[in-house]
Amino acid sequence: MQEAALFSFSSTSNNSDSDSNKPSPPPCTQVLFSQFQSQSQSKSLDSDPILINDSLTLYKGRVSTFDVFGVANSDLLPGKYEGGLKLWEGSLDLVRFLYTEIQKGRLSLKGMRVLEIGCGHGLPGILTILEGASLVHFQDFNAEVLKCLTIPNVKRNMSKELAELGFFSGDWGEVHKMLLCDSIENRTEDCGTSCGGYDLILMAETMYDIASLCSLYHLIKKCMKKRGGTVYLAGKKYYFGVGGGTRQFIRMVEEDGMMEACMISEVTDGASNVREVWKLIYK
Ligand SMILES: C[S@@+](CC[C@H](N)C(=O)[O-])C[C@H]1O[C@@H](n2cnc3c(N)ncnc32)[C@H](O)[C@@H]1O
Repeated sequence: MQEAALFSFSSTSNNSDSDSNKPSPPPCTQVLFSQFQSQSQSKSLDSDPILINDSLTLYKGRVSTFDVFGVANSDLLPGKYEGGLKLWEGSLDLVRFLYTEIQKGRLSLKGMRVLEIGCGHGLPGILTILEGASLVHFQDFNAEVLKCLTIPNVKRNMSKELAELGFFSGDWGEVHKMLLCDSIENRTEDCGTSCGGYDLILMAETMYDIASLCSLYHLIKKCMKKRGGTVYLAGKKYYFGVGGGTRQFIRMVEEDGMMEACMISEVTDGASNVREVWKLIYK
């Protein structure tokens, strides 16, 4: 018997996947880099060093959910706070993978236009700044995460402004309006001021909620450069209790049939259930 399609690709699927019990998402906003904390203040923020491949040190800030959202030790408050203040393992898997590829001369980020979706701490995006990307946009559900964590982290890791930077908050079903797009329909309708899409889209641990996988995939299709664009995504194979996972997401991509998906790394370090890094390109 043929297995029923898990996901629908109708034009309404952007909005129809939202759970009616969830509060409405926060409005899309752009958070200005210059608005929050000077570089010297960022250097004195509570931060921890993270050593990557024994040769690169990145710094991550320490910000509590209680200070920002008034709730103690919460990973997620569905529809209100989506986990951006915590550093998830997949984010470091992605940084390590990218940095290894660069060290081995198999990847260059010079001049690339990059989007990190669901950035939280933003370490993968920060690596691309340090490695010569010309434009890096960071997206998170919550403006508070961008203000209190992503921007201070970017400032903490950069000695001078190296790339054109943008910080955008909002739900995946809407935030493309503020981002670069590369699709015919969006060029005439609702794409941001500059079109053409991103060369590279990065995301880590964004595939946990089955209800938002469609809007996440639609966002990628709107924003990824049609010719030569690449997505690298990292996350857990399954997220117990919430239904999502890299495999659910990849199954949806394969059902759609427009992109080729290839698993490039599997991480079984015991820190969590199995994690994976995948690459997506247009066929
Ligand atoms: C589990 S956190 C991962 C954060 C970071 N990438 C990491 O690995 O440390 C999930 C991220 O996806 C974002 N996110 C989740 N659901 C979202 C949605 N529906 N719309 C926009 N962003 C969302 C959250 O704001 C958060 O940054």
